[in-house]
Amino acid sequence: MDMAQRPRRLRKGEVLRSLARETRMSPASLIYPVFIKEGENAVEEIAAMPGQFRYTVDRLPFLIESLLKSGVDKILLFGIPDEKDAVGSGAYSDEGIVQKALTEIKKEYPSLYCITDVCLCEYTSHGHCGVLSGHNVDNDATLPLLAKTALSHVRAGADMVAPSDMMDGRVGAIRKLLDENNYIDVPIMSYSVKYSSAFYGPFREAAGSAPAFGDRRGYQMDYHNKREALKEAELDLCEGADILMVKPALSYLDVIQTVKNSVNVPVAAYSVSGEYSMIKAAARMGFIDEASIICETAASIFRAGTDMLISYYAPEIAGFIREGRIG
Ligand code: PBG
Repeated sequence: MDMAQRPRRLRKGEVLRSLARETRMSPASLIYPVFIKEGENAVEEIAAMPGQFRYTVDRLPFLIESLLKSGVDKILLFGIPDEKDAVGSGAYSDEGIVQKALTEIKKEYPSLYCITDVCLCEYTSHGHCGVLSGHNVDNDATLPLLAKTALSHVRAGADMVAPSDMMDGRVGAIRKLLDENNYIDVPIMSYSVKYSSAFYGPFREAAGSAPAFGDRRGYQMDYHNKREALKEAELDLCEGADILMVKPALSYLDVIQTVKNSVNVPVAAYSVSGEYSMIKAAARMGFIDEASIICETAASIFRAGTDMLISYYAPEIAGFIREGRIG
């Protein structure tokens, strides 16, 4: 056969395949979500997320050592308080669970990069991401509380804050308060393009943060929309976001690509709890090969254009990159 182009030529052998590869991954771009609970000496498996745990602060070193060994040195912290109230006081208390965890982590592991999720839903008795006015989440009344939460995280040692509440104007409110307190160098990673998604189901079990009534469609995005993602992205950039996140990841690869092509800041993707649980469950049933699916899904999210990936599989992905199986 007379053929000038034979695509198979570049597929011959692992050495050539790895040379011609279009998507490169590094453990440096991975972030691992960590759930921290009150109490002592407890590591509790999350029922809907086998292999993921809630840790008390004193048990964090075990996790951190194994993360660092796997090559993951960045975490995203979520707090699970013992007590909740209508205004989510635990989120911005200097004695809050995330604040306590940060203080301890930074004593022993100053170089571990700590990003904090800034939201009220884990701390409110009604489970919504802001304070209520009747049955409505009051956007503007929530902003100062989110800003206070971010500031108290940074005071306790957070390296970066990541607001996930989807209130309008929260990036600007946080930036302003951080700047007024001279934290001009602390970046904001905004959960900018966050869809209202059933893929957060297992997380809400993990964090006990399911809304007591209604749902989050009044503030999180409608999954039919893509141009709206650019509206959110532009607003957050104008308000001072340094990194924009798209969430969830796997059903939103088109959105990741669109956002990446439209902005000039780094883009993050969050492969959320439901994505993890689906893979885990199918693997446990013997229907799929877990390692191969982890590799393929991680590569697909980076191929879509993300610069960094938040994933419950971060340590595994780092391992596969190190072994040369992907990346
Ligand atoms: C807090 C928050 C949620 C997630 C991250 N931050 C839950 C939600 O919005 O309901 C989901 C993460 C996951 O599912 O892994 N607002």
